[in-house]
Amino acid sequence: MNKVNIGIVGCGNISDIYLTNLTGMFADRVNVVAVCDLIPERALNAQKEYGIPKAYFTDEEIMADDEIELIVNITTPDQHCPVNLMALNAGKHAYCEKPLAVCREDGEKQVKLAKEKGLLLGGAPDTFLGGGIQTCRKLIDDGWIGDVVAVNASMRCRGHESWHPSPAFYYKVGGGPMFDMGPYYLTCLVNLVGAVDSVMAYTRITFPQRLITSEPLRGTLVDVEVPTHIAGLMKFANGAIGTLTTSFDVYDDHQACIEVFGSRGSLIVPDPNGFGGPVKLLRGTATAYEEVPVVYDYRENSRGVGVADMCTALREGRKPRANCEQTFHVLDLMCAFHESSQAGSEIKLRQGFDRCPSLSLGEKF
Ligand SMILES: NC(=O)c1ccc[n+]([C@@H]2O[C@H](COP(=O)([O-])OP(=O)(O)OC[C@H]3O[C@@H](n4cnc5c(N)ncnc54)[C@H](O)[C@@H]3O)[C@@H](O)[C@H]2O)c1
Repeated sequence: MNKVNIGIVGCGNISDIYLTNLTGMFADRVNVVAVCDLIPERALNAQKEYGIPKAYFTDEEIMADDEIELIVNITTPDQHCPVNLMALNAGKHAYCEKPLAVCREDGEKQVKLAKEKGLLLGGAPDTFLGGGIQTCRKLIDDGWIGDVVAVNASMRCRGHESWHPSPAFYYKVGGGPMFDMGPYYLTCLVNLVGAVDSVMAYTRITFPQRLITSEPLRGTLVDVEVPTHIAGLMKFANGAIGTLTTSFDVYDDHQACIEVFGSRGSLIVPDPNGFGGPVKLLRGTATAYEEVPVVYDYRENSRGVGVADMCTALREGRKPRANCEQTFHVLDLMCAFHESSQAGSEIKLRQGFDRCPSLSLGEKF
């Protein structure tokens, strides 16, 4: 396969693992020709560390580079829509970190433009392509737990200000536990169970200000703009009922991240913010869960597998798995949780979506 030339916009905290994997694990499919950051030092460091041919310090310059076919946008959430639109307008495909946008309208704008221009658009998370979640999907699709009746998902922690070097964005529009961690849980759930029809939720802001305790901004206070504890219900198109809690307000809990309950058994799904197992299955009247072997590849940190799949899809003329219908459905869902709480009523989703095909056993990029 002819490699796809890509440019990476944003050389912050998460860029290391992308650069490691895109120049290593996925180097047969992907050729990183340029990196870009508004902070020149970051672009130059990334260029040097990973041997990237070109470094840019403005978005205009990287978008004007004719060698680049696809932009990987790993900037902060407020920049996802503008940078994706710039890429599409420059005739480049776009793969974006989560969330696709900070509001539904900005997501719709991008999907419309990508369709008009016949360009690919999609993005993170790609953990649903990891061995753990793909194994769960196979168990469900092959009928091991029967029809899905319900799901229970829970992401609760005390926020990111104790470790992230610039955590303010987690408390601004486009952040919060729903827009930050929700994409992992929701992308996993819609891959396992299918599209969601409607949502009802309650939200709260427990701490109106957050104190940064990580370096270099230790001691800085951040005003909180978005809900930081969100609990809600989802009605899936297939009739299953889901519950989801995402929180930056409480300490660690001991619930499984995701449980799927079927008419003939139950499944404990591994952490959707990771790629591997464990996968645990309880069948019928058995009294205990049993660990099931993870049968797919990508069990270690494989961030960028969605980019590799998109590059492969581009060459094969098929739809990428981490595609814009999926990332938009997840955005639509996240907005619906916040809106339901504000409105005090059920919110119907704007668009459904069809699950992408699962990976084939042994499929590698
Ligand atoms: N840090 C993590 O562990 C992690 C994990 C998974 C996903 N993510 C997601 O990845 C994205 C980036 O997160 P991060 O932690 O790397 O943030 P970060 O703040 O550490 O890095 C973002 C970088 O993008 C640059 N940037 C911002 N706007 C730009 C623009 N228009 N053009 C060029 N560069 C620009 C900034 O200068 C910065 O260097 C976020 O959407 C986040 O949700 C982060």
